Formats: sequence, C-alpha cells, structure tokens
Amino acid sequence: MSDKKYTGAIDQGTTSTRFILFTKNGEPAASHQIEHKQIYPQAGYVEHDALEIWINTQECIKQTLLKSSIKPEEIAAIGITNQRETTVIWDKNTGIPLYNAIVWQDLRTAGICDAFAKNGGQYRFQKTTGLPLATYFSGPKIKWLMDNIPAVAGAVKAGTAVFGTMDTWIIWNLTGVHATDVSNASRTMLMNIETLQWDKSMLYQLGVPESILPKICPSSSAAAYGVTKKDGVFKTSIPVTGCLGDQQAALFGQACYEEGDAKNTYGTGCFLLLNTGNKPIISSNGLITTAGYLIEGEPPVYALEGSVAVAGSLVQWFRDKLGIISSAPEINKLAESVEDNGGVYFVPAFSGLFAPHWRSDARGLIIGLTHFTGRAQIARAVLEAVDFQAREIFEAMEKDSGIDLKSLKVDGGMTASNLLMQFQADILNVNVILPKVAETTALGAAYAAGLAAGFWKDKDEIRKNWAPAKEWKPQMAPEKREKYFSEWKKAVERSKGWV
Ligand SMILES: Nc1ncnc2c1ncn2[C@@H]1O[C@H](COP(=O)(O)OP(=O)(O)OP(=O)(O)O)[C@@H](O)[C@H]1O
Ligand SMILES: [Mg+2]
Repeated sequence: MSDKKYTGAIDQGTTSTRFILFTKNGEPAASHQIEHKQIYPQAGYVEHDALEIWINTQECIKQTLLKSSIKPEEIAAIGITNQRETTVIWDKNTGIPLYNAIVWQDLRTAGICDAFAKNGGQYRFQKTTGLPLATYFSGPKIKWLMDNIPAVAGAVKAGTAVFGTMDTWIIWNLTGVHATDVSNASRTMLMNIETLQWDKSMLYQLGVPESILPKICPSSSAAAYGVTKKDGVFKTSIPVTGCLGDQQAALFGQACYEEGDAKNTYGTGCFLLLNTGNKPIISSNGLITTAGYLIEGEPPVYALEGSVAVAGSLVQWFRDKLGIISSAPEINKLAESVEDNGGVYFVPAFSGLFAPHWRSDARGLIIGLTHFTGRAQIARAVLEAVDFQAREIFEAMEKDSGIDLKSLKVDGGMTASNLLMQFQADILNVNVILPKVAETTALGAAYAAGLAAGFWKDKDEIRKNWAPAKEWKPQMAPEKREKYFSEWKKAVERSKGWV
C-alpha cells in the first residue's frame, strides 16, 4: 500500500458538498466545496435537487484532483458522510429522482407524526427505534412521498423505486451498490436500535416495503459498498469503505472512541453526541438514541444525541433575510460591539423545536425588545441562542447518562466565532476544546474508510492524530450564568404552541 498517500472523504452537507483528501496524519491535503440550492416551496417545506447534488459531488472531486495534481491511483479508499435523514426516492432503471429530496428540516410530515402520536403518544416507537415521533426522521417522509406523489406510488408498485438518504444516493451513483450504514439507518425510524436491522413492525406501521430499502452495512467495511465505477468520475476503481452520518462522523473524527467521550458540532444545526458504549441508552430527557458507528467485526457503538435544528443557519438567515450583515463572520464584530444581550433572547424555532423539547408547534421569536435594542443586541442574541440550546442538551445528557461531563470537544464552522465559544464555556461552566483539524466530519468518514482499507492500522494510530488547537475556559460569575439561562428558558416556553 506504499503508493497510497491519501484517503478521500465526500461530505454531502445540508448547504454544500465537499471532497477532501487526507494524509496519514489526518491533515487535509486538498479539497473543493460547492453550495447547492435550498428550495423552499412553501412555509415549512425544505427541498434539495438530488441530481444537482450528484453533479456537484463529481465537480468537487474533479476540481480537487485538478488543483492538487493528486492522482486517483494515490487514493487508498473513499469514505462518505452526509446530512442525515434527508430523503430521496429514485427510479433504479433511469437513475432519476422521482421527486426533490425532502430535507431533514422539512415540517410537512407533522400531520403524519401527530396521527401516530394520538394513539400511544410521541414516544410510542422510542423503545424500538430510539427516536421520538418527529418530522425530522426519514420514515414519515417516505410515507408522505408514497401517499402524495403519484410517480413515487407508481414506481413503488412497479418495483422500480428505491429509497436512500444522501449517503445511499451518492454511493449508488459512485459504485452501483444500494447500501447505507447503521448510523444513517438509525435515523429513518425504520431500524430496530437493538438488532440494527430493518424492523418489520415499523415497516408495517409506516407502510414501507422492504424492497425499496438499502442494505444496512457496517460504517467501516472492506467490501460492503463496492468500488468506484471505472467509467465514473475517478476513472478507476477505488474502494468505498466508509459511510457515516455527518454527526456520527464528527464523533469518529474527534476520536471519541471511549464511553463518556462527547463532542458538539456547530454547523447548520448543532449536534451534541455522547459515546455510550456497546448498549443503547433509552433517553428519559428528550434525547435521541442513535447508532454511533459499527466497525466490521466489532460490536456496535451507540450514542446519545441532542439535535438542535437551527444554529449556523440562524446566522445565514440574519445575513440573507435581514441583510444586516453581508458575511457570516461579520456577525461577531457587531455582537462584540456591545457588552451583553441587553435582555434580548432569540428562540430560533424555525423548524419547531428539536431536542429536548420536540415541539413541531413552536415557531421562532425574538423577545425582550425595548427602545434600547439595536442590531448589535439582536446579533448577540443570535449567537447566544446556539449556546443556550447546547446547554439544554448538555443537561439532558448528564441526566440520562449519569456522567458528569468535564469538558466538551467542539468543531464545525461556527467555532470560528470566539464570542460563541467563550459564551459556550461560560454558560456550560466547562472547558471547550477545539482540535487542530476542524473538518472533523469529513475526517471521520476518511478514518472509517481508511481503517477498513488498512490505510490506518487501528484506532490508536488515529487517536494520535488528534491534538487540541484552542481552549476556552469559563469566566462568568455563577449568578449571571443562571440568570441568563433562566431567562432563556422563559423565552423558549413562549415559543411553544404557536401553530
Ligand atoms: N465566523 C463565523 N461566526 C459565526 N458563524 C459562522 C462563522 N463562520 C461560519 N459560520 C456559520 O457556520 C455555518 C457553517 O458551518 P459548517 O461549514 O460546519 O456547516 P455544515 O453544518 O457543515 O454545513 P452542512 O450542513 O452543509 O454540512 C454556517 O451556517 C455559517 O453561518
Ligand atoms: Mg457538515
């Protein structure tokens, strides 16, 4: 394997797609990134064009190779990581999607979820799937597509329809294999969290035929996902040996391999995951039980997750819809121009509220406005909202796991904000640590792939690549911390039950 210098990762995210080549040290050697269209057909609906995303993926690969002069023959393996839950159904004969991909933030399945919850409550499938009934997950989205889109219903009946989340869509296009991994499958509401296989009772409940579903495979596997097509974008056969949902990939990329290891990713949304070892812990505090990762031949690793729907996307909204700033980083200067939020709180319940509340009837609000309030206070409230939401998750996680979390590893685009990170340390009262390589999502997928391909020998070798780059320590007085957080909680209560 001496001629193989890199492992590649495709990171198919909510706002963009990236291809990154990593060296043995876990450092990015070359990359390219392309944003895709966010389609909002009506309030609460969010879609992506899956074909556009596949075209972008190929372009990212081409540009990365072109810019770096790295040859496909130098790549040991490819890993895939992706925005989770986003649902696409296509025709296996034509390869053409039968409808736009329905994005994880989309609320159109609220009615389906409510109807199920009427009979047995929001947590009726929690023991089986680890999940509360919520618009977030893929299963209800599949049901919606079958119930509302004649082309989908017809293709399902004709036996030509196939379903996938974005990992499956990319892998199917790259290699022709119809597969997913446990971490992605655990977000469909169709997988049994104990057996890690499709659950017959859930398929029956949601009316989903097993024939349209991909095979559930290990996250790191030598052969499950096939090799890239010779006549495809790489023009050679490279083994695809890793597949992980983006948040589980970040957990893996942060080397959170021990029970009790946790990380928080601040991207479009914000996702705190805690490694809980080889057994699923069913939450009593509004968290999700999810498959963390499965390395072929080893027992599965589970995680507790707190998912916050709106984090970085609130900064984008502030930029694009209000036009107060022209780039995301500018929000920091504005927020730093005042000492505090001036009593203003912003609850960004744009997709309802996810963990730990799970309220699809909540909507966003800005509260505490006075004549004193200006753009700077609102900018500050935008950033602080992310930290408050993370604290709600952090508390739920400590209650569920009984673990007293001493520090938090962080990553994602928003960690570029010093104010956000310092306020996070202040509000949580723990140290917040950023690693050297902040692209942990792509890195985790590369690690999963490279492990199966022998590019990295074992997890110990990977662990040595992890090193801290920056650390924020709590500085806030305890009274102040609790005053802020109790005001935040009051604001959250007011956002509930709006629709
Ligand atoms: N300096 C900054 N200060 C505050 N927010 C920032 C800053 N830079 C980027 N962001 C926010 O971070 C987010 C991008 O983070 P990142 O690239 O990790 O996103 P992502 O979650 O990986 O995207 P995707 O969902 O497409 O995978 C954007 O929503 C942007 O608004
Ligand atoms: Mg991402």
